[in-house]
Amino acid sequence: MSLLSVCTTDTLKSAALAIKNGQLVAFPTETVYGLGADASNPQAVARIYEAKGRPADHPLIVHIASLDAMGKWARDIPEYAITLARDFWPGPMTLVLKRSELAGDFVTGGQDTVGLRVPAHPIALALIKEFNAIGGNGIAAPSANRFGAVSPTTAQAVDEELSAHLQSEDLILDGGPCLVGVESTIIDCTGPTPMVLRLGAITPLMIEESTGLVALESNPAAIRVSGSLDSHYSPKAKVILDVVAVAGDGLIAPDQIPTPQGVVRLASPGTIEEYARVLYQALRSADQRGLEVVVVLQPGGDGLAAAIRDRLQRSAQS
Ligand code: TXA
Ligand code: MG
Repeated sequence: MSLLSVCTTDTLKSAALAIKNGQLVAFPTETVYGLGADASNPQAVARIYEAKGRPADHPLIVHIASLDAMGKWARDIPEYAITLARDFWPGPMTLVLKRSELAGDFVTGGQDTVGLRVPAHPIALALIKEFNAIGGNGIAAPSANRFGAVSPTTAQAVDEELSAHLQSEDLILDGGPCLVGVESTIIDCTGPTPMVLRLGAITPLMIEESTGLVALESNPAAIRVSGSLDSHYSPKAKVILDVVAVAGDGLIAPDQIPTPQGVVRLASPGTIEEYARVLYQALRSADQRGLEVVVVLQPGGDGLAAAIRDRLQRSAQS
C-alpha cells in the first residue's frame, strides 16, 4: 500500500487504473476519507468489506461525477431528488433512490435502493472522472475506517486505521484534512417526501428550502444504515458527554470553556463548522495519547450542531 501525498494528473490516472484493476484506493472527500473500489466489480467491493471488517449486508454509497450519472444507477427518480441534486451536488449529501440494474446486491447490501453522492473535493471528483474516462461507472466508498471506529479526516488517519488490511497495490491519496469533518447527510428519496436517514451538513431546513417539502425524521430501526447503529464512531477511550472533566481526562469543548487543571485539552473549536472539522481528529488523538476518558461538551443549536450531537451520542454508547 502506498500513501501518495502529491496528487498530480498522473497519480490520479494511476489511481483510477488501480480501481479499474480491482484494487482499493482511499481518497479524500470534503466530509471524511472514503475507501474506494469499482462499484461494478463484486470482488473489488468484497475487499472493502474485508478491509473494514464490515458486515456484508450494509450498503455502500456509490460516488459519481455529476447529476447526469444518477439515471445510470437509479430509476423512478422523484422531482424533489433532482432538485436536491441540483442544489447540493457536488457536496456533502447522499441520496437513496430506487436502484437500476447496474447497482448489484453486492453494493446495495441486497436492498432495492442505492445511495448516490457527488463529492465536492477536487481530488475525489477528478478521480471519479479519470475512472469514468477508462470505462468506470462509479466508485463505491464507505468511510475509510474499521467498522464501528471513528471516520478518518486525514490520510494519516486512514493509514493508521487500514494499512494492516490493505494490499501492496492499494493506494491512499492524501488531500489534506477534510473541510466538513462529519459524514454526508443521507436522504431517502424513495417516498413521496424526503426522509433524513443521517444528519449532516445539508440540514432539514436546507432540504425544505430547496424542495418546498418538509423532511421527515427517520425511524432508525426500519433502515439499514450502519452509521445509525447505536454504538459507532467510537475511539478506544470512553466518551462521556456533558460532565466536568477531572485531571487525566481528555476534553473537547467550545473555546470559551476553560480547561480544568490536569485535564488534557484535545480541541477548542470556536464555531460549529470548526467543531465538526476537528472532532474526529480530536477523538483519535485521545487514543494516541493513551487517554482512558474523553469528556465532550456538546454544541447547542440546530443544523450541523445536531449532526455533531448525533455522532457524539453514538460515540458515547460503547
Ligand atoms: O460522507 C460520506 O457519506 C462518506 C464519504 C466517503 O462519502 N461515506 C460514508 O460511507 O460515510 P459509510 O458507508 O461509512 O456510511 C454510509 C451509510 C452507511 O451507514 C450505509 O448503511 C448507508 O450510508 N447507506 C448506503 N446506501 C444505502 C441505502 N441504499 N439505503 C440506506 N442506507 C444506505
Ligand atoms: Mg462509516
